[in-house]
Amino acid sequence: MAGLQLKRVAKRYGATTVIHGIDLEVKNGEFVVFVGPSGCGKSTLLRMIAGLESASDGDIVIDGNRVNDVSAAQRGLAMVFQSYALYPHMTVYQNLAFGLENLRTPRATIDAKVRGAAQMLRLDALLERRPTQLSGGQRQRVAIGRAIVRDPTIFLFDEPLSNLDAELRVQMRSEITALHARLGTTMIYVTHDQVEAMTMADRIVVLRAGSVEQIGTPLELYNRPDNRFVAGFIGSPQMNFLTGRIATIRDEGARIALDAAPHAASDAALPVRVSTATVEQRVLLGIRPEHVTIGAAQAGSLHVTAKIDRVEQLGAASFLYCTLSSGERLTVHASGQVGYTGGEQMTVNLPVSDTHLFDATDAETAVALR
Ligand SMILES: Nc1ncnc2c1ncn2[C@@H]1O[C@H](COP(=O)(O)OP(=O)(O)OP(=O)(O)O)[C@@H](O)[C@H]1O
Ligand SMILES: [Mg+2]
Repeated sequence: MAGLQLKRVAKRYGATTVIHGIDLEVKNGEFVVFVGPSGCGKSTLLRMIAGLESASDGDIVIDGNRVNDVSAAQRGLAMVFQSYALYPHMTVYQNLAFGLENLRTPRATIDAKVRGAAQMLRLDALLERRPTQLSGGQRQRVAIGRAIVRDPTIFLFDEPLSNLDAELRVQMRSEITALHARLGTTMIYVTHDQVEAMTMADRIVVLRAGSVEQIGTPLELYNRPDNRFVAGFIGSPQMNFLTGRIATIRDEGARIALDAAPHAASDAALPVRVSTATVEQRVLLGIRPEHVTIGAAQAGSLHVTAKIDRVEQLGAASFLYCTLSSGERLTVHASGQVGYTGGEQMTVNLPVSDTHLFDATDAETAVALR
């Protein structure tokens, strides 16, 4: 087990900077997930930690030692990739043993480690098969087994489940979580699937265009996103964003008038950092689909009229896709089943205590105002 520190770690390819000086501290035994859209630099960062890619700047520190100049093989880490990269002509046993044979490990030790990993991953009955005789999930377990037998100080995973079908992903997700609980080894896991991030991580690092947008526990990011990007990235369906302005600011907070209901300021105030918010400032009000309620206007809420365009009934929940008078879209997540079919008008409530407020004057950063 080992902790990891990144200090101002940057990566440049020629004149292009793809990682912009990242600071991060991963605790011993922690499960940290890197998420972000395609091309934001998740794999590059992981590959620099692994030693498969050199850092252009900054320090990579494992267990207190700077490892920038230490080769990948000497760093004591193990990486699991999206493509399992198993040797097709070798059996499962040989695939698991191969890395250890290269290290001149005694045969009895290899055998014990291979059988131990196989048992942990329920591959015991498959040791004589070749990769082509395995399902996708079984192949991925072999790839993970190959990492386990090396007793790494840190496991690095780069989208290990993205080749699997939905059901298998859910299953493998809990297997990897269980493996982490059992081994207690530090794990860094890359994905662009925010459900994986939410369910597996002790802490999530949200990346965007080579920079960290926010680091926190899954619920910290869900409950208190620092900016619009994180707010939109975490949660499914996505948070709704409605434009408006700050109508008044008093000690108790700001009252918001939405473009979708311009003549009615909110009856409850939103706490804001007064230093960063001003009257008439353009804002984005964020509200998650699951926090919108349908029905007569309620106290402590903003109310808007919504026209239902489309209804998705999932049985246990319903999604209502609506348009507001401002032309903006609003998604409502109602629990259970609804009688609406589309075309209806309804009043929806946006409880002020569940809203998020972002600065709309700088659309690029759109920082949280509260
Ligand atoms: N060898 C290279 N030369 C130049 N640019 C590169 C090179 N490798 C990666 N990049 C660029 O670096 C950026 C980050 O790439 P990276 O593979 O780390 O993204 P990612 O977050 O892992 O994306 P994905 O989710 O699609 O796997 C991308 O814009 C990519 O085009
Ligand atoms: Mg990648």
